[in-house]
Amino acid sequence: MMIAVYGAGYVGLVSAVCFAKIGHQVICADINEERITTLRHGDCPIYEEQLPQLLKEQILGGRLQFTADISYAIKRATIHLIATGTPSMLDGSADLSQVYAVATQIAREATADGLFVIKSTVPVGTGTAIEAHLKAELAHNDSPVRIEVVSNPEFMREGSAVHDFLKADRIILGGTPEALSRLKMAYQPLLAQGIPMICMSRQSAELTKYAANAMLACRVSFINQMSRIAEQVGANIDEITQGMGADRRIGPHFLQAGIGYGGSCFPKDGRALVQTARSLGIEVPMLDAIDRVNRMQKNWANEQLNKHFNHVLQNKTIGIWGLSFKPDTDDIREASSLVIIDSLLAAGAKLRLFDPVAMPAMQAYLPHHESITWCRSADSVVSDPLDALVIATEWHEFKTYSLSSLQAVLLNAPIIDGRNCFDLSAVEQANISFYYSVGRPTVTAFCKGSTVRTATHHEYNVSGVTSK
Ligand code: UDX
Repeated sequence: MMIAVYGAGYVGLVSAVCFAKIGHQVICADINEERITTLRHGDCPIYEEQLPQLLKEQILGGRLQFTADISYAIKRATIHLIATGTPSMLDGSADLSQVYAVATQIAREATADGLFVIKSTVPVGTGTAIEAHLKAELAHNDSPVRIEVVSNPEFMREGSAVHDFLKADRIILGGTPEALSRLKMAYQPLLAQGIPMICMSRQSAELTKYAANAMLACRVSFINQMSRIAEQVGANIDEITQGMGADRRIGPHFLQAGIGYGGSCFPKDGRALVQTARSLGIEVPMLDAIDRVNRMQKNWANEQLNKHFNHVLQNKTIGIWGLSFKPDTDDIREASSLVIIDSLLAAGAKLRLFDPVAMPAMQAYLPHHESITWCRSADSVVSDPLDALVIATEWHEFKTYSLSSLQAVLLNAPIIDGRNCFDLSAVEQANISFYYSVGRPTVTAFCKGSTVRTATHHEYNVSGVTSK
């Protein structure tokens, strides 16, 4: 079976490599010639576990080709998998111009009946609109070819996308039974492993993707909202998550409190869903609140810093560990670190930044800022005296960093842990001067050298004397 994948971005590349891995012939097409040249050499342009190795194997095995010539792919495939970008426009709606451009070209150049499989995240109703567009274009070109439109949303997480494709919880297909039976064949090797396939209408498949993302984002915003209350009453959000998550109806996943979600999906898809609802005249206060809570939560680290330093951040030197929106990716899109960095620069702070893989991405975003020092390692962030250390991403190397050596260099400087990387008892044992984390009591060692926990509405000045 020959599958053409249009778009060699995150979703397209992982899908192309994985379809080749399960035995299909795949052509991955993208108009970005530089990217195609890189891929042809077997070099992986994105940071993704397992992908570089699998990419090389599939190219060497002769199952995967890359081309910048879209026509080459169209003429050879019967399954056209659309994985082009759908960036947000100013009003939050998705820009579908790339999806339409591929549809137009397929309608002009396809020589055999085929499936137009939409993997890009598109608003509900796009499949129907594309179907009408394809029909009109095919008729306009007097083409005898039939192209059916199927929705096949992806649920891959950055950092574990290959795993999420090859070991998916489920495969969702939306379209007519006839079209779906043809697409099922492409997934047969995964179905044979017992991965469930759920077939539904195209509209339902389109909405399922948004509903799943909104539910996950909702859980994150929910627990972050709870963490605000926990902070004020001196409760511990980890204990609350454990208590809630033990209820099988709730479960423990996606209830990790922190400084908000980011990435290419939750924020963008959430806003697109709100936009869809508004265009249908539907009020969606709950969906609105998910994003609003998330925006508020991204200010958490700055709020702690302002409280600690009585709103004087001018010329303070702040270290930041972690720039990517989550660990195991170099993606900084909508990362909480961006909000922290912007506010601190605006307040006149000096920053020492480090991320294990996202430094190039952040350097491209913030070139040559005189208040920023780009550090080579987590150690080098703390090697010069700091006024505070902020942890914005829970990379493994930060979570396993020796707290006692951290205390030895930080001295009186607080740790503002936006990802709850450390156990409070370990923090106490290491005699950390000030440790602020999300939804958990503040830990501080002050005065007589003893360490105490308090609710975070207590404020401290830098000498370590508490005041309410
Ligand atoms: C998400 C969906 O999980 C995936 O199914 C969809 O296809 C794309 O969007 P991704 O953006 O890669 O994947 O990240 P994910 O691992 O889901 O995390 C999203 C964000 O939520 C991250 O910023 C993460 O830090 C945050 N998060 C997640 C929390 O703050 N708490 C949690 O408990 C879980």
